[in-house]
Amino acid sequence: MRAVRLHDFGGPDKLYIGEWEQPQPGPGEILVRVAATALNRADTLQRMGKYPPPEGESPILGLEMAGTVAALGEGVTQWSEGDKVCALLGGGGYAEYVCLSARQAMPWPEGFDAVQAAAIPEVFLTAFQALRWLAGLKEKEQVLIHAGASGVGTAAIQLARAMGAEPVVTASAGKHALCRELGAKLAIDYKTEDFAERVADFTNGRGVDVIVDFIGGPYFQKNLNAMAVEGRMVMLAFLGGPRLSEANLAAVLRKRLRIMGSTLRARSLDYKVRLSEDLQLFAWPLFADGRLRAVVDRVYGWEEVAEAHRYMESNQSQGKIILRVG
Ligand SMILES: NC(=O)c1ccc[n+]([C@@H]2O[C@H](COP(=O)([O-])OP(=O)(O)OC[C@H]3O[C@@H](n4cnc5c(N)ncnc54)[C@H](OP(=O)(O)O)[C@@H]3O)[C@@H](O)[C@H]2O)c1
Repeated sequence: MRAVRLHDFGGPDKLYIGEWEQPQPGPGEILVRVAATALNRADTLQRMGKYPPPEGESPILGLEMAGTVAALGEGVTQWSEGDKVCALLGGGGYAEYVCLSARQAMPWPEGFDAVQAAAIPEVFLTAFQALRWLAGLKEKEQVLIHAGASGVGTAAIQLARAMGAEPVVTASAGKHALCRELGAKLAIDYKTEDFAERVADFTNGRGVDVIVDFIGGPYFQKNLNAMAVEGRMVMLAFLGGPRLSEANLAAVLRKRLRIMGSTLRARSLDYKVRLSEDLQLFAWPLFADGRLRAVVDRVYGWEEVAEAHRYMESNQSQGKIILRVG
């Protein structure tokens, strides 16, 4: 089969389409003919040699895909050849074929095509896990979502709204319209405004109940300041760096804060299967009736994979970047 390969670790120009051994489905697995895959920041790190795949996973990039079941491994009864599925992957999505546990596959939401279905798994599972499983977001609560126009951010805004909560975001100014359209009640330009001050104004000094953070060090103190009593923060990435030069932790005790971190890729298969099932129960009816949608910024043919990586690294994207495979 063909797959996106790497000449060696480095920039986007190291990516090329070449031959790779086609995987064979083991017991409990399905083989999927990939129609579309989506980019993730982890792919750019892996391309640079800074994020090796977990033990036993394919070295081919690609953490999610949508495609058609092409063969069944021993003991698989819940899928048939020709079924349309999408899923989170441990790796291997930038290829014509991929194998995965049959339990991890999800059907395409009603009315979705391959591009839309490929835009869902990573960002909706991550955002759902953060908001529902980790932060325990409740109706009427207020949630601050940083990088609101990122892939995960656009999923989190929609899910928070669907959970009856009130989302507010930070994002660069040109991306505010999308965030508002998706349901953000307030969009803060973090480049020109102090987000903790804007949150204080917006919440009448109370602060937000939940924060979903991707920035890390540079935001840590302001995040503590922006949280309400009993606030919860889920840290998912350190786009601004993981280090703190100084912080005043008094608010952690005074406001009884809870600070959590998570990465989805390192979770067990059982965890990811349960999360996928829970997300489907919550979100698939909402995708079908239009209350949730896949936010796709650009679609590239996979021969343009280097250009797609450059676009992600330019920080211009809003929502997902998709590669059509084959
Ligand atoms: N822990 C997990 O389980 C998990 C799962 C999935 C993704 N992630 C991580 O979550 C992050 C978002 O992923 P994604 O795929 O949704 O990203 P994305 O679509 O590529 O969007 C990232 C956006 O973040 C903003 N940004 C970048 N650097 C920033 C900085 N230093 N300060 C403030 N804003 C910055 C930019 O938007 P603006 O124009 O608004 O600045 C950028 O477009 C990535 O770091 C990814 O690795 C973690």
